[in-house]
Amino acid sequence: MNTETGKTALITGASSGIGQELAKLFAQDGYNLVLVARSDDKLDRLGEVFKSNYGTQQVTVIGKDLSTEDAAQDVYNQVKAKGITVDVLVNDAGVGLYGLFATDTDWEREKAMIHLNVLTLTQMTKLFLYDMLSRNEGKILNLASLLSIAPSPLMAVYAGTKAYVYNFTQSLINELKDTNVTITALLPNATDTDFFNKAGAENTKVTDEVQDPVMVAQAGYDALMAGKHKIVPGGFKNKSYEILSYVAPQEAVASMMRNKMEQKPDPVAEKDDSSIAWEIGIGIAVVAGIALGLAYAKSDAIDRAKYRYKAKSLADTLSDTLSSVADNVVSSVLDTYKTTKAKARELTNRAEEEVEEVEAIA
Ligand SMILES: NC(=O)c1ccc[n+]([C@@H]2O[C@H](COP(=O)([O-])OP(=O)(O)OC[C@H]3O[C@@H](n4cnc5c(N)ncnc54)[C@H](OP(=O)(O)O)[C@@H]3O)[C@@H](O)[C@H]2O)c1
Repeated sequence: MNTETGKTALITGASSGIGQELAKLFAQDGYNLVLVARSDDKLDRLGEVFKSNYGTQQVTVIGKDLSTEDAAQDVYNQVKAKGITVDVLVNDAGVGLYGLFATDTDWEREKAMIHLNVLTLTQMTKLFLYDMLSRNEGKILNLASLLSIAPSPLMAVYAGTKAYVYNFTQSLINELKDTNVTITALLPNATDTDFFNKAGAENTKVTDEVQDPVMVAQAGYDALMAGKHKIVPGGFKNKSYEILSYVAPQEAVASMMRNKMEQKPDPVAEKDDSSIAWEIGIGIAVVAGIALGLAYAKSDAIDRAKYRYKAKSLADTLSDTLSSVADNVVSSVLDTYKTTKAKARELTNRAEEEVEEVEAIA
């Protein structure tokens, strides 16, 4: 369905994975394409497929190592020299690197990763955003990650680069709010691409449960087209990870991520996951319980009724979230799941008791 004939999307990292799937969606919608990555042979072949399958009018291939100095400026200059107007910019190209920061990982690779994931993405955005603003029209999609909001031992620098991408994108959303230019952050959970192999993380537990890059690209594409600020593809489970990352103590999130990033298989360690899950739950319950308790103590009779209701909802939500987390991390051990649920129930009582204690004092 050629709905956007004549418009151009520039996609970095279009030679594989999520970027390739995104390029396909633009091609299907009738966009002309500028495809950027190092593997220009792959991009050439992809361009031919798009022309024959979807009647794509114009495909421009730019073979470029985007981890090098001023790579973004060079891409921009090439696009300008060809007289192409970029209507949509997709900053997808990115790499990860696995290992302990102090002793395992190589600084040169880390530097190149920071250059690609952070510097090039920022400069690409700066150059093309300026032109979009002068036309007061355009869209940008930045590939962040669920790791953008979760400290991730063993992928510490990668997670740091993605935290930057997310934070940077959120700031620009505000700066652009009175314009017709939109910017969207895509935050996928682990996805079935070559990413983990290239990062040296192919045998980690996090790769046990990966999502489909076609689904991720479609969710990102739809959010971009709708001008949404961010999208976490993958439904309720990933949404609960997102919420957990916001509300749980960062140390607890880091422990959970450390566990997921460890090498597999390790059935004994998997049992330990349940305790991490409910420790996080305790953290949330205690913090939320204290906050509710304090608010309760200062409130009048009507508000107290509201707080009692909130405490009950908190306890119910907590029970559900813990069940979901436990479900995910301890999927093979049903009895551990039951234990976790029982502990969630304990927490329910604890949260309610806290409110009652404050009530007794007040
Ligand atoms: N897979 C996941 O679990 C996951 C989860 C969250 C976020 N993400 C993010 O999604 C994006 C795409 O990753 P993916 O999973 O689709 O991985 P992928 O299949 O490995 O794709 C990475 C793309 O980036 C390009 N690229 C890598 N280094 C480059 C460089 N120096 N210069 C130019 N292009 C370069 C690659 O092309 P060439 O090799 O041809 O250069 C390829 O097209 C990344 O930003 C990643 O951080 C991935």
